[in-house]
Amino acid sequence: MSTALGNSIIKDINLAPSGHLKIDWVAQHMPLLNTLQEQFERDLPFKGKKIVICLHLEAKTAYLGLLIKAGGADVAMCASNVLSTQDDVVAALVERGVTCYAIHGCSNEEYMEHINKALDFQPDAIIDDGGDLVSTLHSDPSRAELMKNIIGGCEETTTGILRLKSLDKEGALKFPMVAVNDAFCKYLFDNRYGTGQSVWDGIMRTTNLVVSGKTAVVVGYGWCGKGVAMRAKGLGARVIVTEIDPIKAVEAIMDGHEVMPIVEAAKHGDFFVTVTGNKDCITKEAFEVMKDGAILCNAGHFDVEISKPDLHALSSNVREVRKNIEEFTFTDGRRVFLLAEGRLVNLAAGDGHPAEVMDMTFALQAMGLRWIVEEGKNLDPHVYSVPEEMDKYVANLRLQTWGVGIDKLSTEQARYLDSWAE
Ligand SMILES: NC(=O)c1ccc[n+]([C@@H]2O[C@H](COP(=O)([O-])OP(=O)(O)OC[C@H]3O[C@@H](n4cnc5c(N)ncnc54)[C@H](O)[C@@H]3O)[C@@H](O)[C@H]2O)c1
Repeated sequence: MSTALGNSIIKDINLAPSGHLKIDWVAQHMPLLNTLQEQFERDLPFKGKKIVICLHLEAKTAYLGLLIKAGGADVAMCASNVLSTQDDVVAALVERGVTCYAIHGCSNEEYMEHINKALDFQPDAIIDDGGDLVSTLHSDPSRAELMKNIIGGCEETTTGILRLKSLDKEGALKFPMVAVNDAFCKYLFDNRYGTGQSVWDGIMRTTNLVVSGKTAVVVGYGWCGKGVAMRAKGLGARVIVTEIDPIKAVEAIMDGHEVMPIVEAAKHGDFFVTVTGNKDCITKEAFEVMKDGAILCNAGHFDVEISKPDLHALSSNVREVRKNIEEFTFTDGRRVFLLAEGRLVNLAAGDGHPAEVMDMTFALQAMGLRWIVEEGKNLDPHVYSVPEEMDKYVANLRLQTWGVGIDKLSTEQARYLDSWAE
């Protein structure tokens, strides 16, 4: 095994043994990636290419990195969040020949240094999660030359795609990017069932408290919010949803949840989960009326959804009371508890989405990357949807691995659906 220790910046290579076990565990539960691995080893679609990947560095993303490497690429990986990095997994990746720049809990300055080190790798293509690679490339004039070599890339999440679309709208995007999040086989399953399960897993393992009988306030009823609310209900909580979009609010009510403004919901909640991709969704006005003991956490991409400046301004004392739990004591004596510094609770205080769910997302990532490497030179620098046949291929492969068959349209049915006269 040739290691990539020389160029990497990591916590400790001696942590690798438990990282290998974690990667091997998820690999057993990612049959789609295993199928792609056979194809990639045969076709070597990334032969001679340098690929830089910026993702939450835990076992499932590590397995994706190894798949891209199996496809012939030279791979460098950096983190998309300072708290989601698992140092043992990073060490194992390095032992398996992937260059890594990531240390759990590093400072924001170090985080940016790692991103820049990864870019120094001079990628031919990238995978981004949240847009930090792309925005660093586009905002630093010294990176202009580098961008000329980049064939294109893939973006993992809602927030990153919003950032890409605003770059594209300004005509400033320099290479084509695939919006992986917007594929059906991504957001319908990863955002909804993945976030739904892993957010409550993160909250429960961090707090060791019961959810049943409590009130959970879910801020934002998009694809992630729907999953978080659905699983809260399943755990026995009363669920209140807050929204800014009237259609989503109607949807939440029809799904059986209560809807009200955040300042009203703030009085009732025992747990608050923000999952909007927006900033300042829970601020001073809400903190001022919260119950003593309320637990706050975020599952949106950035730690800006719960106002940490407001929490600090209202507090006479702040202390860590348990791993990943900060207690804020307000001047009137009430306390609220913030999990994982307001960063993605399922990743910063858990292992992220279940492996089987990420299997579908990462199959799209790997196939999307192959498509962009093969076709990118012919594409203008815009944001592209995952091709429909790729989405269907992933769904069919998923069904196959479950051993589930479905019906086929007959020629007569296809003709009937296509005609207007019958
Ligand atoms: N934790 C994870 O593992 C994970 C997984 C996927 C996506 N994400 C991130 O979660 C966030 C949400 O993603 P999504 O796919 O659900 O997006 P989405 O666009 O489907 O939903 C966001 C919802 O938030 C609502 N919203 C916006 N501002 C609000 C406010 N101030 N108050 C209440 N509601 C508000 C919007 O109306 C929308 O319905 C993004 O930042 C995304 O990148 C996290």
